[in-house]
Amino acid sequence: MRVNLIGATVAGCLVATGAMAQTAGTDEDIAFAGEIWQEMVDTGMVGDGAILGLPYMGAPPHGAMLETFFMDAEVAGEEGLLVIKRNYGPMEVAADEVLADPSGHLEAVTIMFQRAEGYDSEHNDWFYAKYDPDGSLDTNPAGMALAGAVGRNMEAGCIACHVGAGGDDYLFTTDAYPPRAAE
Ligand code: HEC
Repeated sequence: MRVNLIGATVAGCLVATGAMAQTAGTDEDIAFAGEIWQEMVDTGMVGDGAILGLPYMGAPPHGAMLETFFMDAEVAGEEGLLVIKRNYGPMEVAADEVLADPSGHLEAVTIMFQRAEGYDSEHNDWFYAKYDPDGSLDTNPAGMALAGAVGRNMEAGCIACHVGAGGDDYLFTTDAYPPRAAE
């Protein structure tokens, strides 16, 4: 009886994944994330001697201290805005400690790259990735590489949370210091 129940659950999962095309963690997503990492190496945004910003206090799920950069990038022939967030830790770490030893405090690099129109038109065409400091991709608890339209099913993951950012652009930091409204 128990065996039957497990069999039924597995069959159910197969039907569910078969019906919906996978939107993250595919071989293509992983390769594209690799191209983005290379672009960041080439432009001095990651690796030894990477350009530094002024770390500011962050909150989960990103780090205790953060740096955010915006740049135009070309990735595999696609031009778009690349937003890079460096996530530093551990909790309670101070900005001057991060600046004294950035690579020793770097816990993850998370990015959003706006791909060509039609990539994920419902959600502004953002491609997401989360890397360990050495450039390998982080995975979710199910073992899926965090690259692509992560969280598109709105259950968990990058998009499910970033959809809540103001301005319908999926970006939080652009809302951090809103200018005074016009009178
Ligand atoms: C539970 C909510 C949540 C989840 C899940 C989340 N983020 Fe974020 N993200 C934020 C918040 C809040 C900020 C703004 C942090 C700040 O700089 O103060 C942010 C900022 C960013 C930024 C800088 C651009 C911006 O929005 O200002 C990038 C890039 C980013 N996140 C990537 C990712 C990636 C990649 C994932 C998935 C692996 C992810 N995020 C998952 C809440 C989330």
